[in-house]
Amino acid sequence: MCGIIGYTGYNYAQNILLEGLSQLEYRGYDSAGIALLTKDNQISVHKCTGRVASLIDLCSLDEVDSCCGVGHTRWATHGGVTKQNAHPHTCGKVSLIHNGIIENYYEIIEEYHLADKLVSETDTEVVAALLDTLYESDPIVAIKETVSKLNGSFAFCIMFTDQPGLIYSIRNVSPLVAALAKSGSYIASDLTALIPYSKEYFIVPEYHIITLSKTDITIQDLNGKFILPEILTVNWDIEAAMKNGYPHFMLKEIFEQPDAIHKTIAPRIKNMLPDFTDDSIPNSLFLNCTKLSIVACGTAMHAGMVAKTMIEPLLRVPVTVSIASEFRYEEPLIDKNTLVITVSQSGETIDTLEALRLAKRLHGRTISIVNVKGSSIARESDYVLYTHAGPEIAVASTKAYTVQLAALYLLGCKAALVNDCYSVTQANQFIKNLIDVTDNVKLLLEHTELIQSVAKYLTGATDAFFIGRGLDYTLSLEGALKLKEISYIHAEAYAAGELKHGTIALISEGTPVVALATQTKVYSKVISNIREVKARGAYVILLSCDESITDSSICNLHIPLPKTDDLFTVFESAVVLQLIAYYTSANKGLDVDKPRNLAKSVTVE
Ligand code: G6P
Repeated sequence: MCGIIGYTGYNYAQNILLEGLSQLEYRGYDSAGIALLTKDNQISVHKCTGRVASLIDLCSLDEVDSCCGVGHTRWATHGGVTKQNAHPHTCGKVSLIHNGIIENYYEIIEEYHLADKLVSETDTEVVAALLDTLYESDPIVAIKETVSKLNGSFAFCIMFTDQPGLIYSIRNVSPLVAALAKSGSYIASDLTALIPYSKEYFIVPEYHIITLSKTDITIQDLNGKFILPEILTVNWDIEAAMKNGYPHFMLKEIFEQPDAIHKTIAPRIKNMLPDFTDDSIPNSLFLNCTKLSIVACGTAMHAGMVAKTMIEPLLRVPVTVSIASEFRYEEPLIDKNTLVITVSQSGETIDTLEALRLAKRLHGRTISIVNVKGSSIARESDYVLYTHAGPEIAVASTKAYTVQLAALYLLGCKAALVNDCYSVTQANQFIKNLIDVTDNVKLLLEHTELIQSVAKYLTGATDAFFIGRGLDYTLSLEGALKLKEISYIHAEAYAAGELKHGTIALISEGTPVVALATQTKVYSKVISNIREVKARGAYVILLSCDESITDSSICNLHIPLPKTDDLFTVFESAVVLQLIAYYTSANKGLDVDKPRNLAKSVTVE
């Protein structure tokens, strides 16, 4: 949450910061601002509520002659969306930006009598005031002392008026990456802002003070010991973070799924069997597990729900799925024989990260399924299975979800093989089906006209229901989430058999019901449930692999899916549900990629 960028170098900072903020906007978009350290040692701040585009307009009126500055795009936590609460915050000689939450900010105000120095309602400004109070002449000493007083998560970029050309930075939990290029030094919340300048970067280590100058970046720990960073190389191009002709990132990312799935599974398949050798994941990880515990948030948690339904009957061991923010406080039953699987696109979701830390304290075996290389969750897990979706920019997750499914399917197959729940022949067939997913999804994406007509119907709806049984039910959860988060239509998912215990009371003439019927063993049951809602006036949109369905007593619109093994229909269904949400939101003229109140990477609890 919140996007951070800092630059000091040989070029004008203003445009670099504004371009960086445009790239990072998906991290938060309530307000935006930049601070520039001018050649006469003044801080020039521009900030406003609303999008980065408004900040760009504002800045175009006043181009500041500076090669050193910091920029921020905000997702409000403390204090409303106002210009005063927007970052950067300046106090005396200090100007800073912050991602995270300072939990003890009120105590700090009291202890250091800072109230008179504050003009905003933010926790961040308190840190600027504290730093200014503690600052004499040595920034490192003042930063060290300041962070020793803070509870919470933070990533700061700081400038001092009497430290020309220098940016200081420190973080705890909230992510930061940095790069030294010929044109200067860059620091940002994530790679999308750095990649136009450098393909080499490093992850800023926690509780280390980073000093950026135009020719150098130094890193020292809190005892003053300098360290060298581990340099990583980006394995995707700036093109991957551009729309490339698509009207929205979300649509582009939906269409990238066949490729993303292929890239995720292909390197882990050898002789038509799952092989995690290159990931250094030993088979022993899957032996003697008495329980699998999947922990995640949002869409990643929904991927976990699909995996549970797929894996539990296969392994015949209990698989639980927990919302990370609940897991942390429910005294989970984890021991050394529990395999804890954390799933996260960003690898930075704070609740998932803390859940992982708890699982480790309880001696669970941990593996994470993560998209962002070197992210906190990836680094802190015993093992990591990276997904290879490339950067996902749209706030609503699409390709990250299907690659998480693909990785979880591989993991399930591997565990089944290692535990003799699958023979080699069965595993071969499973892998063949998984490989076929890529082509099936590609085929489906060639014809989206029918899906667009579904979206036309939904555009005028106020409520929608998603129903299914088994794997289809777990898919429905994601379908409803996608629709509500980007189209603002109230959408709920229900297990089809459960409808008659209450929810069916909400069905009236024309209520849209998206029904999934792809699972053979419950097919006739779910068709009965569909007839029940249809009889009460529902407008039924049916997803099934049965091409022969023409019966208008079952549905109003039928979206036929390619026939595949029951376990693998989830991939095609997921893509259809994503497209339904996408076209509905686009028809409504909404900001598909940046839905209100949301942010891509949730680094606050
Ligand atoms: C936010 C995003 C969702 C995502 C969830 C978990 O809510 O908007 O798209 O599913 O966080 O994020 P993670 O990065 O842990 O997968």
